[in-house]
Amino acid sequence: MKQVPLSGPDITEKEIDLINQVLSTRYLSMGPMIQRFEEAMASHVGCDHAIGVSSGTAGLHLAVIAAGVEEADLVITTPFSFVASANCLLYERAIPIFVDVDALTLNIDPALVCQAAADLIEHPEQARHWLPPSLRDSPTDVGDLKAILPVHVFGQPADVDPMMDVAQRYGLAMIEDACEAIGAEYQHRKAGTLGDAAVFGFYPNKQITTGEGGMLVTDNEEWASLFRSLRNQGRDDSGAWLHHVRLGYNYRLDELSAALGLAQMERIEELLGKRERVAAWYNQRLEGMEGLEIPMISPLTTRVGWFVYVIRLAPHVDREAVIETLDQRGIPSRPYFPAIHLQPLYREMFGYREGDFPVAEEVARSTLALPFWGNLTEPEVDYVCTTLHQELGG
Ligand SMILES: Cc1ncc(COP(=O)(O)O)c(C=O)c1O
Repeated sequence: MKQVPLSGPDITEKEIDLINQVLSTRYLSMGPMIQRFEEAMASHVGCDHAIGVSSGTAGLHLAVIAAGVEEADLVITTPFSFVASANCLLYERAIPIFVDVDALTLNIDPALVCQAAADLIEHPEQARHWLPPSLRDSPTDVGDLKAILPVHVFGQPADVDPMMDVAQRYGLAMIEDACEAIGAEYQHRKAGTLGDAAVFGFYPNKQITTGEGGMLVTDNEEWASLFRSLRNQGRDDSGAWLHHVRLGYNYRLDELSAALGLAQMERIEELLGKRERVAAWYNQRLEGMEGLEIPMISPLTTRVGWFVYVIRLAPHVDREAVIETLDQRGIPSRPYFPAIHLQPLYREMFGYREGDFPVAEEVARSTLALPFWGNLTEPEVDYVCTTLHQELGG
């Protein structure tokens, strides 16, 4: 039976050579590779500072700290994402304020973000409505709205301009979760340059990988120096190894991972281009197919940084049955993402239930991630699409 991979890293001799170079030096951590990787990233994104960290989640955590988010503070974010984009708020005992998503782009709905911010700041009588159910009867237990944290879901930028306006009006920070979106562009501006700080993630299914790893990017010099200190056990830039000026973490990215990342950055256009080609093959074959919809790209998206290829199944289609049939034919697929507010942890902490964010829930019920990576071949895409067509009654 044919077996199609779900995704995979794209590794060449270039990556292997650079990693071998690291192994022949004395520096396996905090050497020259991290600096070169950071410079490559800053130059690609077009920002002043890039700070490598041990994961996208670690980067989000540090961005939340830099934004001044403290216990009980509020941050507006999306319920349709990977769980880390909300968990990073819980690390600081802050409260995620979920607002629903746009049914077409699957990104956070900017109109709802603006409404939520205005109500939470200016209309105390309406504010309650935006709080998690378990806090609605004790609104005095909540702190201040401090930030907006949009996610560029599946590599398509969120519509950030209206959110940035509201952030500026109320003095809120804007953190972009760009973990899935390296290379993406919003109105010809790169993901990573759209807020106060952004985070990229490099897990092996991402556009570029470091194994585990992430990168914070920002133009804010103070934040950049804070990120360097926080990732390194709260050391300052005096260089003293056993001198700790704040509570920090070990969120450093090692030299082997940085070498892998640097080699991948040197191939970034090739890697993005290969993924664009695979997405185009899927689009050609699946557009107009009965029982599904292909990803909808907003006119504001001038480039998708293709992370995954996610279709939406029509309401009458039994997704579990489709997954099962594909699996039997050697094609892995994933119901991607389940809504965050319905995860057991979030139900328990905040009292969320089905129906709280109907658009996100409906999207979460219908999405299916197909095999996707740059080295997927055209015959493999053909096989996936033909099998899907047969299963959907074609
Ligand atoms: C939207 C989003 N945020 C955050 C993360 C966390 O990144 P990491 O797995 O590198 O911690 C991911 C990773 O999959 C993600 O997709």
